[in-house]
Amino acid sequence: MDKLFDLKDRVIVVTGGLGQIGREFVMELHGRGAKVAVLNRRMPDKAAIADRYPVDSENFGLFKADITRKKELQDALAAVKERWGIPHGLVNNAGIDTQPSAPPEVSGPFEFFPEEVWREVVDINLTGTFLTCQVFGGAMAEAGRGSIVNVGSIYGLLSPIQDIYAYKKEKTGVPFIKPVAYSASKSGLTNLTHYLGTYWAKRGVRVNLLVPSGVGRDTQDAEFVKNYTERMPIGRMARADEYNGAVVFLLADASIYMTGTQLVVDGGWTAW
Ligand SMILES: NC(=O)c1ccc[n+]([C@@H]2O[C@H](COP(=O)([O-])OP(=O)(O)OC[C@H]3O[C@@H](n4cnc5c(N)ncnc54)[C@H](O)[C@@H]3O)[C@@H](O)[C@H]2O)c1
Repeated sequence: MDKLFDLKDRVIVVTGGLGQIGREFVMELHGRGAKVAVLNRRMPDKAAIADRYPVDSENFGLFKADITRKKELQDALAAVKERWGIPHGLVNNAGIDTQPSAPPEVSGPFEFFPEEVWREVVDINLTGTFLTCQVFGGAMAEAGRGSIVNVGSIYGLLSPIQDIYAYKKEKTGVPFIKPVAYSASKSGLTNLTHYLGTYWAKRGVRVNLLVPSGVGRDTQDAEFVKNYTERMPIGRMARADEYNGAVVFLLADASIYMTGTQLVVDGGWTAW
């Protein structure tokens, strides 16, 4: 195994590891011999996920934790430590977004965008990542090593292009406005990453931001996919496993001199 990308026996926590991109991270890391701890706010029974996850592997563990609840994160850390020791890696992948299928109450114009929805999105995407860094990153800093990958979004670097979603009004009569809360919460991760990357730099914990663009899903409207891909230099949406290379790079020694910065993997979206 190439030492640069070797993750064998590293203990790596993936929040939201039962989601679309999270599953790909989990399977890739597990396949490389890492001990993968999946944190999720809901705990499905093993049988429900056995066809998609290596539930019987000694290198796979499912731990219940809502990332907005510090006590649950502390309990999850204690359980991971007891099983495998202090983690070497953390992928802050859990997050929520507002899809074009969302009702107008949670996706309306900025002027009327509900404060409670703003708070919920910021609470999970930004405060939840802050708390997870505090709990797991704090333990890594005490151990004097570790790599944290926060998962941002192109919509945290640039504003969404609202024209992409204009078809919704023509199709259903109800406009869809891509909300501000997701963008603002994801852009907050940029400076959380700068901050922690420098704060922990001399203690051996690296912190970087992975910036993905949109992943194709069966449930997306054809008009949305068309509009999105027309704007996308590479000419298609991402597959959910196309961020695996970046997350392996950021977790492994291949990126040993990289901290406090971002890796943009976006099909060229931000290049023009
Ligand atoms: N899918 C995309 O097109 C895309 C594009 C850019 C960035 N991203 C980012 O990538 C990450 C993964 O996206 P995805 O599309 O796989 O999402 P997803 O909705 O499929 O999965 C997200 C996971 O996070 C979990 N989660 C949500 N709130 C939580 C909480 N409070 N505590 C613990 N777990 C919680 C969910 O249960 C789910 O398992 C997100 O941070 C998202 O913002 C996704």
